[in-house]
Amino acid sequence: MRHFLTLKDFTKNELLEMIDLAQKIKKQTKNRKFVPYMEHQTLGMIFEKSSTRTRVSFETGIYQLGGVGLFLSSNDIQLGRGEPMKDTARVISRMVDMVMIRTFEHSKLEEFAEYSNVPVINGLTDSYHPVQLMTDYLTMLECGVEEPVVAYVGDGNNVTHSWLILAAKLGFELRVATPKGYECDASIVAEALEIAKESGAEIIFTNDPAEAVEEANVVTTDTWVSMGQEDEKENRMNAFKGFIVDEELMELAQQDTLFLHCLPAYRGYEVSEFVFEKHADEIFLEAENRLHAQKGIMVWLDQHRDVN
Ligand code: CP
Ligand code: NVA
Repeated sequence: MRHFLTLKDFTKNELLEMIDLAQKIKKQTKNRKFVPYMEHQTLGMIFEKSSTRTRVSFETGIYQLGGVGLFLSSNDIQLGRGEPMKDTARVISRMVDMVMIRTFEHSKLEEFAEYSNVPVINGLTDSYHPVQLMTDYLTMLECGVEEPVVAYVGDGNNVTHSWLILAAKLGFELRVATPKGYECDASIVAEALEIAKESGAEIIFTNDPAEAVEEANVVTTDTWVSMGQEDEKENRMNAFKGFIVDEELMELAQQDTLFLHCLPAYRGYEVSEFVFEKHADEIFLEAENRLHAQKGIMVWLDQHRDVN
């Protein structure tokens, strides 16, 4: 049985198989053909943090695959009152067929997976957001970006870490610009660079947004204040001055560059209103693709239940 905890857990080919499945199922869905790949299956969806896209896309996705989603907010289940993760895992995984979790420490997700009888999907932790990056890759393909040169400008956070692993696995160029003191986690960087040796991915780090964006064909960012960092807001607002993706910065990128944002977006902070609205079509295609990419992931995991 395979879990989807980080993109490190899969080979390049496996990730591309999931993307292929996503594309195939998306096409079927667009033709109003709902193939019951996961008929009668239940997806448990545990949320310890807020969500719009992750919740709606997983719940709708499993329903369109012939199953049903159970929204389990930690405010409502005993996990929120102190029932251990490992007990929650042993109970829930005896009743449902697959679990998606959004939580804080990545180790909590790993603990759940260790005790789970069914595949577990990472719906975001403090360290990674892998379903988002599968979505972003699907979106880049659909938008015709064949050889990505990606510039990430902003906080070295969970989304950035998954960008690192995606680029390293698939072998594309990634430039990461973060303010001093808000760089990516050093051990995740080391792992990504190790993986990149095999794929030939070129990954660079800078504190200068212009250096990252120059001639890039994909520019992306994320909030400066992730969930759980609300107390740091004031310090972060000061530290991130100069890191807004605005028209001036975008002019350094290739013409017709793609702009991606996992959302929610905070206009006037990590992205200007102008850049956001100019690229709204691709940003909301990216949001929609959460639904399709995650179907590919769920169906792939379902098809690999017996493979070690
Ligand atoms: N991008 C993303 O994961 O959005 P939500 O927090 O709304 O799920
Ligand atoms: N980095 C953000 C992503 C939200 C989808 C957070 O963790 O809040």
